[in-house]
Amino acid sequence: MNALKNTWYVAGWADEVGPDTLLGRRLLDVPVLLFRAKDGVAVAIGDRCPHRFAPLHMGRHVGDAVQCGYHGLEFNGKGQCVRNPHGNGATPSAARVPTYPLVERHALLWIWMGEAHPDESLIPNRLSFLAEGHRVHAKGHLNVNANYQLLNDNLMDLSHGMYLHRGSLSTTEMGTSYHPRVWQEGDSVFCHRESPNIVPPSLWTPALPKEAQRVDFFSYLSWSAPSNVVLEVGCRRVGLTKGVEGGISAYTAHLFTPETEQSSHYFFSFSRDFAQQSSLVDEHIRQTTRHAFVNEDKPMIEAQQRMMEGADLMSLQPVLLPSDTAAVRVRRALAHLIEKERTDLSRGEGSASASTSHLGEPVNDSAN
Ligand code: FES
Ligand SMILES: [Fe+2]
Repeated sequence: MNALKNTWYVAGWADEVGPDTLLGRRLLDVPVLLFRAKDGVAVAIGDRCPHRFAPLHMGRHVGDAVQCGYHGLEFNGKGQCVRNPHGNGATPSAARVPTYPLVERHALLWIWMGEAHPDESLIPNRLSFLAEGHRVHAKGHLNVNANYQLLNDNLMDLSHGMYLHRGSLSTTEMGTSYHPRVWQEGDSVFCHRESPNIVPPSLWTPALPKEAQRVDFFSYLSWSAPSNVVLEVGCRRVGLTKGVEGGISAYTAHLFTPETEQSSHYFFSFSRDFAQQSSLVDEHIRQTTRHAFVNEDKPMIEAQQRMMEGADLMSLQPVLLPSDTAAVRVRRALAHLIEKERTDLSRGEGSASASTSHLGEPVNDSAN
């Protein structure tokens, strides 16, 4: 799979895995089982029983272990077979499953599937808003039948909103002043867009004061490897230039984990600190964002993947537009990190690529 290995990926929302949950999920084309030990600590082990290869998530939770639902072998969070109900009860030495470092942070479960030492300091702190109690989090998980890099592309080129999401997240009026500023710092890519003096997109209207017929709208995107996108988005009173004066804003997270080469997990959240008590605003935001992701983004990206017939996007030599600048920079940054990781591995250096690589290229605002 063309993906970074020595980095943290989102395996799930922490609240997807309750005390009795056995959550089977394919991550980086590997079957993984997520569950909680008796002390509540979440663990990740291989989801494939070494006996007849049944998925362990179809078994049951027994104390600190999971019992295979087919013939009853039991495995703990260290991947060890701790009970064999057959014969004299001896546990064959080959009866074990892999384990993966798993960390619960920012309301998410982060998994490390590479060989290098898992460095917890690489879990992005900028996602701490996902666990802030003063925000309301409209969050979810989608399976998308498309390569994770197409999801990176989708977020980093918000011009698609003016066509795919007009009437919900965006408006055609935003196109009249679409001049995003793109830059790169280390391995992170930023894309800031200002849309001054526009009618606010319908997502925002129930939460804005009635007199806010027009607003200055802003979208501040940032990407970090391998596929973590944060979008700060909001409205401010027309003519004010700082923060969200006289307006409202939210942090949104768009976190992608490869499932297979051509499918991905999409973990999203719209985390707002306004109108926390309003069920009307809450329902409107949940419905509108879900509609945009499920009925607008997902079908388009999946259709795009089908049209590409398994090829990598860049190998098809796509026409590049100025609006592709940020997405192309992300692709270049990620390709550089993946290449560096491969080179390090072939030299026998198991480094944590996401933390140690730097792009030496000059930053420019051209997609080409
Ligand atoms: S397949 Fe798991 S015990 Fe037989
Ligand atoms: Fe979209």
